[in-house]
Amino acid sequence: MRVDIDRLSRELETLAGFSDAPAPAVTRVVYSETDRRARAWVRELCCEAGLAVREDGIGNIFARWPGEEPGIATGSHIDAIPHAGRYDGTVGVLGGLEAIRMLQRAGVRPRRSIELVVFCAEEPTRFGIGCFGSRMLVGLLDGSELRDREGKSLRDWVGNHGSVRLPKGHYAAFIELHIEQGPLLERSGIPLGIVTAIAAPATWHIFIEGEGGHAGAVLMPDRKDAFCAAAEAALAVERAARSSGAIDTVGTTGVCDVFPGAVNSVPSRVRIEMDVRDIDGARRDRVLGEIEAACAEIAARRGVTIRKQVIHADPPATCDARVIAALEKAAGGMPYQKMVSRAYHDSLFMARIVPAGMLFIPCRGGVSHRPDEYAAPEAIASGVAALAGALASLAND
Ligand code: GLV
Ligand code: MN
Ligand code: MN
Repeated sequence: MRVDIDRLSRELETLAGFSDAPAPAVTRVVYSETDRRARAWVRELCCEAGLAVREDGIGNIFARWPGEEPGIATGSHIDAIPHAGRYDGTVGVLGGLEAIRMLQRAGVRPRRSIELVVFCAEEPTRFGIGCFGSRMLVGLLDGSELRDREGKSLRDWVGNHGSVRLPKGHYAAFIELHIEQGPLLERSGIPLGIVTAIAAPATWHIFIEGEGGHAGAVLMPDRKDAFCAAAEAALAVERAARSSGAIDTVGTTGVCDVFPGAVNSVPSRVRIEMDVRDIDGARRDRVLGEIEAACAEIAARRGVTIRKQVIHADPPATCDARVIAALEKAAGGMPYQKMVSRAYHDSLFMARIVPAGMLFIPCRGGVSHRPDEYAAPEAIASGVAALAGALASLAND
């Protein structure tokens, strides 16, 4: 069996061309015209491979190589955050397709069906919540709560979508191939990472309300500057994450909207969005508690109000032992490292209804969510080969 890495590299390049940012950056936000064209192109590739393609009401795509049910699934996402690179998610989608084509070329006849899943949106860019496609597939969201920044709902974007929920046990196993998005594999020179657990992510939106006014005229002792309070809250996020005592705790404030946003006006309202994660859910929750206490203290001291909206606070996921064993076997002598995923993935949610696992490949410098994200063709080929082996063995189990 041989991975057609030249074809796969060309396909990754073509997909990167569907972008709302100039190359090498990739911006592909779910439901944008660019995203729709990219998904139509991926559907065509799946049809060319002879797969039976269907799309659900919100844009999750399923491309099936038929066989007995329940089948084995693989896949990832093709949406990309603003100014991202070209490998995040796409390696798992186009690499998953190449794994299926490679099995077909080799004349493998898997007993179970093998299905490629293209999740409609792993990134939180449009609706502020990551993985809403897989969350809806596993019944964690019904979608009516989703609004984008312009106030448009999911229904405004896709019409009457109905339920897209899949029953527990819909697949016998799910494997996601993905770039590591961290530096560990590259540093140790190991080509494959077999994921044992996925960290618990939480997102809060924090609304700060102070008092606006003229930047020249409002005296400093009289100020209730919402942005200065927000800046302290962001520092509290960093402090709480740093002081957890574990390298696995991370905290980020990645969005800050200031109102009215004029250089000569004291900010009266600010919205920040923060993200806290840990492989240990209880420790993550202690950090969130510290951030909440810090916000209460900042509000009292500065005379502003601070209100939080919990967007999600998900538990971590444990990967399935049988899927891990299949991946270890499929590595076929290639060195691998067992590791945790610090990024979240659709697998975090698929693991609720299906035995799930993940396979990582190294990416240069551990860089991701940046235009200079890069995975070498040889690294991608190793990942696809191991994925194909694991899909074949699970499909014949
Ligand atoms: C996924 O993109 C994440 O933020 O972990
Ligand atoms: Mn991403
Ligand atoms: Mn991803």
